Amino acid sequence: MAENKTTTRVSVPKVELHCHIEGAAPPSLVKRLAERDGIDVSRIISPDGKYIWSDFTSFLKAYDLASSVFRTPADYGLLAETYFRMLAAEGAIYGEVFISPDHARAGGLSYQSYVEGIAAGIERAKIDTGIEGRMIAIGVRHFGAGSVERVIKEVLAFQHPMVTGFGLAGDEREGHPANFAKAFRMAKEAGLGLTAHAGEFGGAESVTAALEFLGVSRLGHGVKAIEDKALVRRLVEEGIVLEVCPGSNTALGVYPVLRFHPVNLLRRQGVRITLNSDDPPFFRTTLGKEYSSVAETFGWSFEDQLDVTLTGIEAAFCDEATRQRLRVRLDSAKEKLDA
Ligand code: ADE
Ligand code: ZN
Repeated sequence: MAENKTTTRVSVPKVELHCHIEGAAPPSLVKRLAERDGIDVSRIISPDGKYIWSDFTSFLKAYDLASSVFRTPADYGLLAETYFRMLAAEGAIYGEVFISPDHARAGGLSYQSYVEGIAAGIERAKIDTGIEGRMIAIGVRHFGAGSVERVIKEVLAFQHPMVTGFGLAGDEREGHPANFAKAFRMAKEAGLGLTAHAGEFGGAESVTAALEFLGVSRLGHGVKAIEDKALVRRLVEEGIVLEVCPGSNTALGVYPVLRFHPVNLLRRQGVRITLNSDDPPFFRTTLGKEYSSVAETFGWSFEDQLDVTLTGIEAAFCDEATRQRLRVRLDSAKEKLDA
C-alpha cells in the first residue's frame, strides 16, 4: 500500500519537471524502513516526524542519510508509487523525477534494480490515476567528474524507456561545468534530454557556464540569471526553460521570502518557467503549494498557471505522442474550468 494518499481538490492541471525521488520520501516512510534495518535516523527526523537540517550542506547530508534506507527495488517502488499518487491527487498529469544511481549504490542496489523498482511504482500509480512519469538520471556534482561519467555509462548500458533525461545535481559551489562536458556529450549522443542545476547557490556566471559546457535545454533553478540582463535575454532568445523551485529557494535561504523571489520578474521578461517542489517534505512543500503560493503572491490568474503547465508539457523529456496526449488533457481541463 502506498503511504500518504492525499485528497486535495483538483484545480489547475499541473506538471512537475524537477523533483528528486529520494528527496520526496515522506519522513514516516524513511523512519519505518530505518527501523526495519536498524539504521539510526534520529539526527535527521524529529520526534514529531519532520526532517531536521539547517543549511544547504546539512540538507545534503540529511538527504544522503534518508536515501540510505532504501535498499530494495520494492522500497523504491513504494516510494515512487507514493510520490506519484500524491502528485496526481494535487492535479498533476505528468511528473519527471531525478534518480541518483550513486545514492542507490550506497544502499546496495544496482542501477538496473533501482530503475526497475521506480518504474514499477510509477506504472502502478499510473494505472489508478492516469499520471505519466519519466526519470532523469543525475550525477552528483560534488562526487566529481568520474562518478558523473560512471552514471551516464550505467544509463547507456541498461537503457530503460522511462529514463529519458540526464542531469547534474549536488553542490553547485564545487566543480566547474567543464568537468562534466564529456558525460553530457555522451548523454546528448544517446538522445537524452539535458538539464543541470545552476544559478541556485552559484551566480549568473554559473548559469552561463552550464549553458556553454553542458548544452542543456533546461536549467534546475537558474533563478540567479536575473542578476545579468544579457543572460536573461539569452535565456529568452534560446528558449531555455527554468525548473523554478520557489519553496526550496526560500527554505534554503536563497531568497528570504517568496515576494523577493525573481520567478515573476523572469516570467514577465519572457523567460520560460515551470514550477516545481524539488525535495518536498524537506522543504515542507508540495507541487500544489508551489502553484498556489506563487499565484497568490504575484497575482497569477488561472490562465497564468495553465500557461506554466503548458511550458512544462512543451519542455518535458518525453516522446511526441505522450506530449500530444498531455496537451489534449490540458485543453480538456481548460474547457471544464471555463464551463
Ligand atoms: N539534490 C537534492 N536537492 C538538491 C538541490 N536543491 N540542489 C542541488 N542538489 C540537490
Ligand atoms: Zn533539485
